Amino acid sequence: MIILPQDWEYYIEQLNSPLPEILDEIERATYWKTTYPQMLSGKIQASILYFLVKMIRPANILEVGTFTGYATVAMADAMPVNSKLVTLDKNPHNLVIAQSFINKFRRSDDIEIIEGNALDFLEHDARTFDFIFLDADKENYPLYFDLLKEKLNPGGLWVTDNVLWNGKVVNPGNDREAQSIALFNDKVKNDHDLEKVVLPVRDGLMLIRFRD
Ligand SMILES: C[S@@+](CC[C@H](N)C(=O)[O-])C[C@H]1O[C@@H](n2cnc3c(N)ncnc32)[C@H](O)[C@@H]1O
Repeated sequence: MIILPQDWEYYIEQLNSPLPEILDEIERATYWKTTYPQMLSGKIQASILYFLVKMIRPANILEVGTFTGYATVAMADAMPVNSKLVTLDKNPHNLVIAQSFINKFRRSDDIEIIEGNALDFLEHDARTFDFIFLDADKENYPLYFDLLKEKLNPGGLWVTDNVLWNGKVVNPGNDREAQSIALFNDKVKNDHDLEKVVLPVRDGLMLIRFRD
């Protein structure tokens, strides 16, 4: 994890465009009510997602891994008026928290929360998307690669979190999650249909799009 000094982080957060205030409430609730609050995207990553959605102007967004709805709200706040966002999570406890905040959020009618295993959903749902954010079970990243490549529209953008896995992808050893993420990274690297760039932000964000 790339951790910036706290005062740098605060300085950057003040420079970035303001995010919806409800994100602070979600962050606080995540720290009180969940076991692994560090899974939350955080302000800087939320600002990057917000900015990318503003640039791409997607008609629809898919998020794999809702958790407490933090990135969900950041992306939905940035999407154009008629756009829709679908977010998937298998953990009902997380989704109760996410739903409670999304109900209060101005774009709640444009957000569809689906509870269940994302892999099952992706195998059976025919929809395709202009913007995808993958942030779920790392050990299945290679499977997500195959499924999500089929879901990404030409001209769209696919953002994947944790592609550095605290640097362990360099030498994964016996770490199963690091092995899977390294395999995902190799699949992306060797796929000549795709353009890609890694932003060394936090735990590594990879941006992927179809080559023109
Ligand atoms: C890192 S958190 C997501 C963080 C969130 N995107 C954010 O920005 O705050 C990962 C989430 O993926 C969910 N998850 C893990 N494996 C899953 C699966 N196979 N299907 C659906 N959700 C899954 C977990 O329950 C967890 O809430």
